[in-house]
Amino acid sequence: MEESYILITGGAGYIGSHVNRLLNSKGFRTLVFDNFVTGHRRFVQWGQLVHGDLRDSAQVEELFNRYPIGSVMHFAAFAYVGESMASPAKYYRNNLLSTINLLDAMVRHGVDGLVFSSSCATYGQSTEIPIKEDHPQQPLNPYGQSKLMDEVIIKDYCRAYGLNAVALRYFNAAGAGIDAVIGEWHEPEPHLIPIVLDVALGKRQYVDIYGDDYSSPDGTCIRDYIHVQDIAEAHLKALLHLDKVKGWEVFNLGNGNGYSVRQVIAAAERVSGRAIASRVCERRPGDPVCLVGSSAKAREVLGWKPGFAEIDTIVETAWRWQTRLNELLKKPL
Ligand code: UFG
Repeated sequence: MEESYILITGGAGYIGSHVNRLLNSKGFRTLVFDNFVTGHRRFVQWGQLVHGDLRDSAQVEELFNRYPIGSVMHFAAFAYVGESMASPAKYYRNNLLSTINLLDAMVRHGVDGLVFSSSCATYGQSTEIPIKEDHPQQPLNPYGQSKLMDEVIIKDYCRAYGLNAVALRYFNAAGAGIDAVIGEWHEPEPHLIPIVLDVALGKRQYVDIYGDDYSSPDGTCIRDYIHVQDIAEAHLKALLHLDKVKGWEVFNLGNGNGYSVRQVIAAAERVSGRAIASRVCERRPGDPVCLVGSSAKAREVLGWKPGFAEIDTIVETAWRWQTRLNELLKKPL
């Protein structure tokens, strides 16, 4: 039989492209399916590419008819917390419909292994730090809700149709491959680290700090920044773990270290050697004060260990990418 593909939905996006690259370097045959709404063609430099949209069930069916698919990694989703507060319909329609169409095709074609991109945004306000996988899930924004609903749907499909799924709940993905070939690139960019680095590069005048009156030591929100390469390694381990999964299993992916918005700005100043202007503004609706995860389970069961623990080393890789991205954007594809 022809060797099967690992289907990577959203493989042209930030995290999906790093996973696609890693899997190819390990000899896997990958099939990237992306609609390029937020992904980038130049990020798909490995594997086979199909341009298409998961919201269109006929296109998904055609994909599964055409290619032998062994298992699936599902990244494709809208993922901006702030935008999801303003446009919840966009988030529910896209993130839920895409997942259902994908799962239906998997069931119809007897593809039973799934690694799902979930999020710490499914937890909401933390009642204990670090957050473990059994922490209550009460999302504060529609993005987190949509990921939680996806989890519920996938769990039900596992139970009813015999799928096996691993959900990985990432904390704040950050950084870029150390050779800066691919990295973080959103338009518009809502995320803290690239915004702060754009200030260092002179592309923005200042960074808005979304609230400094939170119940944290310096009043700004705390996040657990986890390097995208470490997230990619965890996906490889999750893929290899799939045949041991009976139904559904979930793992947090974080460093276990929390950094405030101000601490991230300070790290970016150290790494870039430049002053970074900021101004305090209103809180961003939907933001929990503190998200720091325990990844003890992923370490124990998957044998995963993040290689980048310090914020400076994470920001360093982002800085190298961000300076390159500026050059890249000036060149045509
Ligand atoms: N922030 C600012 N100013 C900015 C941008 C962000 O102060 O210009 C703050 C945010 O309020 C937040 C922190 O910096 O407190 C990090 O914000 P990001 O937008 O970089 O990341 P989020 O925490 O909102 O969201 C990210 C991913 C989600 C994921 C979530 C989990 O986008 O997919 O992490 O926290 F679910």
